[in-house]
Amino acid sequence: MNILVTAGPTREFMDPVRYLSNRSSGKMGYAVARQALARGHAVRLVSGPVTLPPPTGASVSRVTSAEEMLAATQEGLAWCQVLIMVAAVADWRPASISSSKLKKEGMPSMLPLERTPDILSRLAADKGSRCFVGFAAETDDAERHARAKLAAKQLDLIVMNDVSRADAGFEADTNQVSFFSADGAFQALPLMSKDEVADRIVAWVEAFPHDGL
Ligand code: C5P
Repeated sequence: MNILVTAGPTREFMDPVRYLSNRSSGKMGYAVARQALARGHAVRLVSGPVTLPPPTGASVSRVTSAEEMLAATQEGLAWCQVLIMVAAVADWRPASISSSKLKKEGMPSMLPLERTPDILSRLAADKGSRCFVGFAAETDDAERHARAKLAAKQLDLIVMNDVSRADAGFEADTNQVSFFSADGAFQALPLMSKDEVADRIVAWVEAFPHDGL
């Protein structure tokens, strides 16, 4: 299959040196790309700024902002049968970007923000028979939030991780996730390496009924 994967954070600049972002290291998304390749799939990876080596055999598009990630993901959509959106897209961006570095003396004490595009929601209209997988990083009432996102973003599977654990989620090499699928099924996986989690996700996608494949 052709699998499009997004990974890493996005950066939303306010001037040439300052930005809003998050703690995503890209490890989970890169693991998904590697495992999909290892299982014989073609992989395109849309990556935010991370320090990881590109997975051998993947075609990699590097992006910085949520707007650029939306454009690159939109471009890859026609090519893929599966979209796995692992990226931790920044939810907010500064409402304006200054072309020169803002002087600290002249900085406003309040920074006007606006929402970034929700990439999965924007692509939902063109989903067709594709399989869409999303991630949810939650700290409280995780199951309710994960199920709400599954429905709102028209996902087939949402992989929920509890980012309040030190050995799971952001930056760690291990992760503890649960799968919620659109057919109502639930599966809690034990703590395992991100490579193993990635392998389970790709196996789930392979078992998903794909039209014409
Ligand atoms: O709403 P929330 O950010 O928790 O949803 C997480 C899922 O939605 C992830 O799969 C993430 O990649 C995706 N997402 C997106 N566009 C955004 C924010 C999140 O596609 N602006």
